[in-house]
Amino acid sequence: MLEKYPDYRIICLDKLTYAGNLSTLKSVMDNPNFRFVKADICDRNAVETLFAEEKPDIVVNFAAESHVDRSIETPEIFLQTNIIGTAVLMDACRKFGIKRYHQVSTDEVYGDLPIDRPDLFFTENTPLHTSSPYSSSKAGADLLVLAYYRTYNLPVTISRCSNNYGPYHFPEKLIPLMIANALNDKPLPVYGEGINVRDWLYVKDHCKAIDLIIHNGKVGEVYNVGGHNEMRNIDIVKLICKELGKSEDLITFVKDRKGHDMRYAIDPTKIHNELGWLPETKFEDGIKKTIRWYLDNREWWEEIVSGEYRNYYEKMYSNR
Ligand code: TYD
Repeated sequence: MLEKYPDYRIICLDKLTYAGNLSTLKSVMDNPNFRFVKADICDRNAVETLFAEEKPDIVVNFAAESHVDRSIETPEIFLQTNIIGTAVLMDACRKFGIKRYHQVSTDEVYGDLPIDRPDLFFTENTPLHTSSPYSSSKAGADLLVLAYYRTYNLPVTISRCSNNYGPYHFPEKLIPLMIANALNDKPLPVYGEGINVRDWLYVKDHCKAIDLIIHNGKVGEVYNVGGHNEMRNIDIVKLICKELGKSEDLITFVKDRKGHDMRYAIDPTKIHNELGWLPETKFEDGIKKTIRWYLDNREWWEEIVSGEYRNYYEKMYSNR
């Protein structure tokens, strides 16, 4: 955004929990059009003080607890950040006035699709039908956003994206976890039989969609973002082994996730027709770029996997 819109001022508010990392922002920290603020979106005082100081005209809520496995362990944190945090941000938008509040959501609010029905896709009209505490908290937040539109006329939009991948992805998620483990010759833990399907979206394509929605999207509308990049988990893990020249013997099948969604697949017709968006990065290219990034930025993720993350990893994966 700073590159594309040199006259925009961008403020990043982040609590810097386990998944946040200031080194990710290194290249923009000195940019005079950028300000970083360490705060919690649930902290009404901190949010209102910032709004009073900066008077933002567009707010994009990327802040979320987003890891399904963690939500199964501790749902409460998800309800707090994802629902209460959303309400606090929108209340500040109401109080100070706003041109647009945009909620970054997920295709997981639609639940899952059967593996044997490749003709079915999520559209914006698919009923919400969640499986995990994570997706339920996101669905709750989406409903609240639409309620603020109807009740207070807050100018909102929502995007529901499929699984993102790319640089700076926290290594608890499938792709960065498998890359990091493979590079360290550690076992590659595939849940169940590895036949679950996700619709993978390169992170920059997602960002381009959000850019289009906040500038040209229609207020009160939901846009699905993703499309036609469906892959089975096991095939992704095998591809990562191949790209890194590692043996598939590293693959270990472990106990399945509770309530594990089978397949996500997005129909992006609406955002394509209304805003001209289509995913530009093919999975074959995106995964190569991603692997290259993890090879070139070892210090970024090695610091993470050697820190507090190790306790999480032990808890989730030992004896699984
Ligand atoms: P994940 O990256 O956690 O995203 P989500 O649950 O939001 O789709 O998981 C993607 C898929 O990979 C999901 O089907 C679970 C599976 N998975 C594994 O098989 N092993 C792992 O270690 C992880 C983290 C995920």
